[in-house]
This record gives sequence, structure tokens and C-alpha cells, in this order.
Amino acid sequence: MVDPYKRDRPAREPRGSWFREIRRRIMSRLLTFVLMWAVILLGVALVWFAFSPQAQAATQGALAPGDRVPNFLLLDHQGDAHELYYHTHVDAVVLMVQGNGCPIVRHALPRLQELQQQYAEQGVAFLLINSNPQDDRARVQAEAREFGIEIPVLLDDAQLVGQAMGFERTAEVFVIDTDGWRLRYRGALDDRVSYETQRPQAVNHYLVDALDAMLAGDPIARQQTEAEGCLVHFPKRELAPEDISYAEHIGPLIADNCVACHRPGGIGPFAFDDYRMVHGFAPMIREVVMTRRMPPWQADPHYGAFEEDNSLSRSEKQMLVDWIQAGARRGEGEDPLPAAVAQEWPEWPLGEPDLIVELPPFDVPATGVIAYQHPRVANPLDEDVWIRAVDFIPGDRAVVHHIIATLTGQEGQFGRLGILGDGLGGYVPGAQPVVFPENTGVFLRKNAEFLLQMHYTTSGRATTDVTRMGLYFADEPPQHELQSMTLLDPRIRIPAGERAHTESVRRTFQRDALIYNLLPHAHFRGRASEFRLITPDGNEEVLLSVPHYDFNWQHTYNLVEPKFVPAGSTIVHSTTWDNSPQNRANPDPDVEVRWGLQSWDEMLFGSIRYRYVDDPAEAGPELAREH
Ligand code: HEC
Repeated sequence: MVDPYKRDRPAREPRGSWFREIRRRIMSRLLTFVLMWAVILLGVALVWFAFSPQAQAATQGALAPGDRVPNFLLLDHQGDAHELYYHTHVDAVVLMVQGNGCPIVRHALPRLQELQQQYAEQGVAFLLINSNPQDDRARVQAEAREFGIEIPVLLDDAQLVGQAMGFERTAEVFVIDTDGWRLRYRGALDDRVSYETQRPQAVNHYLVDALDAMLAGDPIARQQTEAEGCLVHFPKRELAPEDISYAEHIGPLIADNCVACHRPGGIGPFAFDDYRMVHGFAPMIREVVMTRRMPPWQADPHYGAFEEDNSLSRSEKQMLVDWIQAGARRGEGEDPLPAAVAQEWPEWPLGEPDLIVELPPFDVPATGVIAYQHPRVANPLDEDVWIRAVDFIPGDRAVVHHIIATLTGQEGQFGRLGILGDGLGGYVPGAQPVVFPENTGVFLRKNAEFLLQMHYTTSGRATTDVTRMGLYFADEPPQHELQSMTLLDPRIRIPAGERAHTESVRRTFQRDALIYNLLPHAHFRGRASEFRLITPDGNEEVLLSVPHYDFNWQHTYNLVEPKFVPAGSTIVHSTTWDNSPQNRANPDPDVEVRWGLQSWDEMLFGSIRYRYVDDPAEAGPELAREH
């Protein structure tokens, strides 16, 4: 049976349907209208948000409680280096955003320093960080003196940390759990100080509550509060992230700064030979830039100017990180990297040497530790020559850790200590050929012997190394003989577990001299190193500071402007070692460490190349005036 009610039943027109129809239409128009405006307003809000200064930081990834805080390494206002992920010896790191001239910061500091004392025993480290574009080291030093700031103020001069963490206002505190590097709290220290008002006592102690809960293993009740303070200015970059082009900006930057090592056959562990490599390594590139690992350069830029300084400028770092944050996109244009890696990389960058000295072959086993080798090779020449440059080509780059070459009859042959001066030059991975300064040279007697110190490390496969040393002769005898000064002390004793143990050695120039370069040297426990000049009139000047010494990179620092030092000047060379377990390179934090050749022993060793200045006028008008 067919249901009569279902069949072709005309829709019953209810009473007053015209009224409903009109209402429906009005409602639908209204809805469209409201929706349209909602969309427009949302769009406007988004655009506004995207272009507001704080939002720029925020969209770069403002950290919320629970997020992982990326590692970074920054120098503080005294020039000391601090790496976030070093702090595994404490349970929490408290970071407060500092800014010169901000009243809220100034009022909050005494309380923060009180808390630092209070929580020191409980394993909490306190740091300040300044991302203000207007504050520099000298200004922060002045602020620290005036307001008694004892906590290191990390200078985030490229604003990379401020951007990554989403700083908005100074005086905001961040509590970082060192177990997993999670952010546990961000916001106000407490509610005592506000804009132009101060209560005698805080009612809410946000930071203390967060720390106490965290240390007790309890959940933190308030993980985020509104922080009051002065806005941190993140000025607009020259190029907005979306305008940074791989073909035009990033590729050339990598080609200029990275490809010399990161190419097939280079010393880098991989080659940046096209966009895909840069894209794949993008997060890692961001990390090595934020932790200052790459390009390898350890000198504090505050002191001196050095020829091989290959560090990225502030704006280069920002551009690289901005591009990575924005997705590391390829975009249009030709990829410059394939051509950059394909260029000729000559075996001897200075050209064919005048004399190639081949060292005796040495068998390096796959694993184990190899005592320093000290091969001696007779000079095959039958006439005296002046050497103007030296270069080394290791037979197997994977196993040659360093080479120091000197000649019989030169200073610095400490047979008993096993150390050779760097009379002729040296090689470390990544080193450039040693070219002696203009008008100087090293004299090679026809009956001399080459004395070498070879430090081999094993690489997991057995190999035989035959290293070649290339010598370049001067056409004319140079005006000056190059001298070396060695600053060493074999009596060092580094206590077990000590985080920062410093020792120093000093030597005095008996004659006027012109310093060309400085070489600090330590082993796995080396943490920082410095050369300080004290002139006879008592003036002190830092010639070189290496706040974050890295055993892997034994740079010789060549001064762009040679330094004139009057007779009677003293050089103080000091090294700080980190014998704690937090030093990731430390082979054994439980032993007292003394002088020794091997990397697990230590050295207080510095070397300076200079020449004597006999007539101040001859060293140029600049020097004569100083004289
Ligand atoms: C002087 C040579 C040299 C230069 C210049 C250089 N690198 Fe490296 N790079 C190396 C070496 C060697 C390693 C391996 C380090 C190690 O194993 O500890 C490395 C490793 C890396 C790593 C892997 C992470 C790590 O720490 O092992 C990245 C990423 C990197 N480099 C990026 C760069 C970028 C980006 C540049 C340019 C801005 C650059 N490098 C410039 C030699 C260099």
C-alpha cells in the first residue's frame, strides 16, 4: 500500500508564511553582513598584529610555558661567555630581561639578587639578558656599576635570543628547567613594582612560587603572568623575512662564509653544494649561529681586529635566522652554490712552493692514543735562504690534529717539556698558509734541521700519513727577522672539578717591538684565554680575549694593525680551565690536572710573533708618535 500522505502531497503553506519568508531573508542578509564584517575585522586585526613590533617577536615564536628553550651562547657585559645548555649542574636557570634606564628593572634588581643568594644552594642559576638595540657593553657596564648589578648581563646584540623567546618587556623573568630545557614560567617577578607605583611588600610572589613548586616537583599554579616593564624594541629589519631570497642573499652568504670548509674535500663534515643541503641543515644552521659554533671564530670582537675574522655580522646572522624561521624557502633565481663548490681549490693556495719537505711516513692505527711524534728532517738546501711563507698539506686530514714546525737554533725548543716554539709556523685544521708579515722573514741556515711536532688523533680506520711542508723563499733578504716569544708555565695545577681555574704567566720585552700575532693554546679543559699588555707607564690593554676557547680551533690571531710595544712592556698571558663535568670535552673531572703534552693533560702556553724596532721612525709615523 502506498502511503497516501507521502505521495505528491503539496507542501502545506502554513499561515503567515510570507512573514517567515521575509524574516528568513532579513536574517540571512544580516548573517552575511555580520560574517563579512567579521572577516574584514579579523583580517585587519591579523594585519595589524603581524606588523606590530611585539607581534613580530611573537610570530617569530614567543615561548609559552612547556616549550623548549633553544640553546644559545652570549658574551656578558664583562666579556665572559655563557651558554644556556652548559647549566646542567643546576635545576633551573632564571633569566630576567634587563634594559638600561628602565625603572622597573632597577627596582626589581635588588630583590632578584636577594633571590639569587637564597636559591644558590638549591641549584638555581640567575642571569640577566639585554636585547636592547640601544645598549652596548660600555653602557651596560656603567649601569651595572651604578646600580650594583652583580649578575652577569648577557648581551643579545643580534636580538636572536630575544626574538626566539619572544621578549616583549624588560623585567620579565623566565624560569628554565634544565632537565629538558623547558620553559616553566614567564612573567613578572612579583607584584610589588608597577608603573610609577611601588608597594612596600609584594602580595603575589610569582617567581618564588614557581621556583618552589618546580624544585619540589609540584605543578606550577601560575605559569604565566603579565609582566610590566619597558618595551624592547625590535627594529624593522632591512629585509622582511619574506623578501629574503635564497638565490640573492642566502646562497651567496653560505658561499662566502661556509663553502671554503663545507665543500667536497674540505674539512667540514658535509658540503653545502646546493639548496637542498642548506634547507636540510636549516635548523642546525640556526643552532650553530645562536651558539656561535659556526663559522668557527672565538675571539671577543670587543678587543682588537684580526685578519682571519670570519664571524658573521649582526645583520648576516639576523638574515640567516629570519630566513630559516620563515621556512628556508628556495624561491626564484639560480642556485649559486653548485658553482661555488665547483671552483678550483688549488692544493697549494700560494702556488707551487720553492721547497717541499716531505715528512717521514707515519702509521696511524684505527683507534687508540698516539704519543706526540717529533720527526727531524735535514734541510736539503746548500745555501742560506729567507723564508717568507710556509704551508702544510697533511697526508690524511682526518688524523692530523696539529703540526708545529721549528728550526734548530730557534727559541722555544723545550725538549724536556716536549714543546716547540712556532718558529716556522704551524698547522691546525682549517688553518690558512702562514705568510710572514711584509718585510719580515725567518732565516733558514743551510745546515739547519727542521724539527716538527706532530699530533695525530685516530679516526676509526688505520691510515698512513705523509705530511708535506711547503716553503716559499723571499727574493731579497727582508728588513727584519721575525721573532717568537713563548709564554708558558709547566707548574700549573688545575684542581679536580673546578669550573674556572685561572693561571697566568708574564714576560717582558727588553727592546721596542712590533707584535704581529698571538696564539693561545690549551687542551680539552681550556675555557678562556687572554693576552694583556702592560706598558711601562702602567697602561693596561687587552690585546686578545678568547672567552669561549675551543680546542678544535687553534687559531693564530693576526693583528690587522701590528701593535707597537715599547721596551719594558709586559705581556700577561692567562688561561682559564674548566675541569667540571659540565665541560663536555672534559675527559675526567675527578682528577687534578697538570702540565703535559696529551690532550687530557693541560698547558698554559701562549706564543707571540714580533720583530724588534730599532729606530722608531722606521716603524712608520704612527709608531714614531706613540714612541
Ligand atoms: C673553517 C672551516 C669551517 C667554516 C668556515 C664553517 N664550518 Fe661548519 N663545520 C666545520 C667543521 C670542521 C665542522 C665539524 C665540527 C665538529 O665535528 O665538531 C662543522 C660543522 C658544522 C655543522 C654541524 C654542526 C656541528 O656543530 O657539528 C653545521 C650546521 C655547520 N658546520 C654550519 C656552518 C655554516 C652555516 C657555516 C658558515 C656560516 C660554517 N659551518 C662555516 C668547519 C667549518
